[in-house]
Amino acid sequence: MAVVGLGTMGAGIAEVFARAGIGVVALEIDPEALSRGVGILDASLSRAVSRGRLTAGQQAEIRSRVRPAAGFSEAAAVDLAIEVVPERMAIKRQIFAELDRVCSPDAILATNTSSLSVTAIAAASKHPGRVIGMHFFNPAPVMRLVEVVSTVLTNDGVPDIAADLARRLGKTPVQVSDRAGFVANALLLPYLNHALHLLSTRYASRADIDLAATAGIGLPMGPLALLDLIGLDTALSIMEVLHGEFGLPRYSPTPLLRRLTDAGRTGRKAGRGIYDYADSALADKNNNNQDGNVLASAAPDTVTLIGAGDTVETDLATAMAAAGINVTRNAAHPTDLILIAAEAGRPVLPSSLAAGRPEQAVGLHLAGTVAPGTLAEVVQTSLSSTETVLAGAALAVKLGFVPVRAPDRPGFLAGTLLYPHLADAVRMCQDGYADPAAIDTAMTLGCGYPRGPFELIDAAGAAAVLTGLEAMHEAYGYPEFAPPPLLAEHAAAGIAFSAGSRSAR
Ligand code: 3HC
Repeated sequence: MAVVGLGTMGAGIAEVFARAGIGVVALEIDPEALSRGVGILDASLSRAVSRGRLTAGQQAEIRSRVRPAAGFSEAAAVDLAIEVVPERMAIKRQIFAELDRVCSPDAILATNTSSLSVTAIAAASKHPGRVIGMHFFNPAPVMRLVEVVSTVLTNDGVPDIAADLARRLGKTPVQVSDRAGFVANALLLPYLNHALHLLSTRYASRADIDLAATAGIGLPMGPLALLDLIGLDTALSIMEVLHGEFGLPRYSPTPLLRRLTDAGRTGRKAGRGIYDYADSALADKNNNNQDGNVLASAAPDTVTLIGAGDTVETDLATAMAAAGINVTRNAAHPTDLILIAAEAGRPVLPSSLAAGRPEQAVGLHLAGTVAPGTLAEVVQTSLSSTETVLAGAALAVKLGFVPVRAPDRPGFLAGTLLYPHLADAVRMCQDGYADPAAIDTAMTLGCGYPRGPFELIDAAGAAAVLTGLEAMHEAYGYPEFAPPPLLAEHAAAGIAFSAGSRSAR
């Protein structure tokens, strides 16, 4: 097989094939780019050796299967070529014209495009029936999904050959049709774009946004760190294509995405994106500075706890007492901090006003149980003082939680990121494009989600997600926050999305 284009993804895909015992012609016309690409491959294999995942002998064997090449004629004998060049149609078409010229007519020509129309690429080829999308995920050696994208022009049998090949590589194929963003990017990118929008509007800090996703939702990376991994330029092109195809405001690239791309701050590959990567000392300073560390020692000694009389309130009171904090339930009693056990979908401000000292009050919303490691959203009302918010965060640290600061708006921080993302997944299913199982597979295997969007909805209960979205929609009025009817139907009927079982909620 041949890989055309040896950037991060191309080198990763070459590695995947070579690891599966398949000989690879690694093609780059520009000699400098070729040696950079081979360097990426060598670094990845050396890393695997240093982690004890490969022996030096296996490394040499894998490496010997990869033949770097600088001319298309070297790909003449391959039965599959995958194009992994930048996302510009003119370049792709040129590559496919070259492949048409040198490859035998029954070789399969695949594109790893993440955003362009596979149909448009195929239509420009001499043999459009053998053109297919094989969309890998970054890092290609690690992520297990391959989206196999067929078009109306694809010959029968070609998608199955590509799917079998993906299995031979140790990947799981999901067959999809040619729609902007396919499945995974169409769901992932609007969520990442929204996260960047929250940063640019100062809704929350960079570290807090990423922590809300990892500690709160359980995702392997925060959305901002993931944008840096994917590349902001790549993310921008995908958003532009999604916006062009679907036209909805949710797909409009947030201006900061464009500005950072214009500035060359395209992420890890450029040494700088939303975070710094170039110089490790500078990176540590810049990456940590903005967000500041919260010290448990700054936690208050006395706290007034106001809650809904539920187990969260009781457990919080127990945890604080165990940490040596004096807890009172009497708002008239002068204490250092008024802590309001916040509930999803309910603003904190009314309770903080009722308590009489709103500048000394913050909400605390837990993304899970009262246990160490749980994400704690320290909810700042318009009247909470900065000292109060810091004291709330310090208290959360003292109790072993992972604090993030969030404004007193529907969804706080984790919900604001998650609910519209889940609504997008439901809409994709509602539109008949993919079913819940395919969507969950795409997000777990392509993006490392521990649970897919529908499993997340089922775990939280469709009704809870619906309530969260309704509150966001009511507060902002944005159409993208409007709950999809399919979600409302599942909530009303108490049906889970997975396997048609009845939801307990
Ligand atoms: N190349 C090769 N291997 C890599 C790697 C890379 N760039 N980065 C990590 N790895 C390997 C490590 O060697 C390690 O392997 P081992 O378990 O065999 O030793 C394994 O991955 C785990 O790595 P780490 O321990 O260093 O780090 P983490 O446990 O934090 O995992 C991660 C890193 C796999 C990147 C994980 O954070 C993750 O799954 N993130 C989500 C990534 C994602 O969403 N990708 C899809 C983006 S969308 C896309 O690509 C589509 C495109 O069209 C835009």
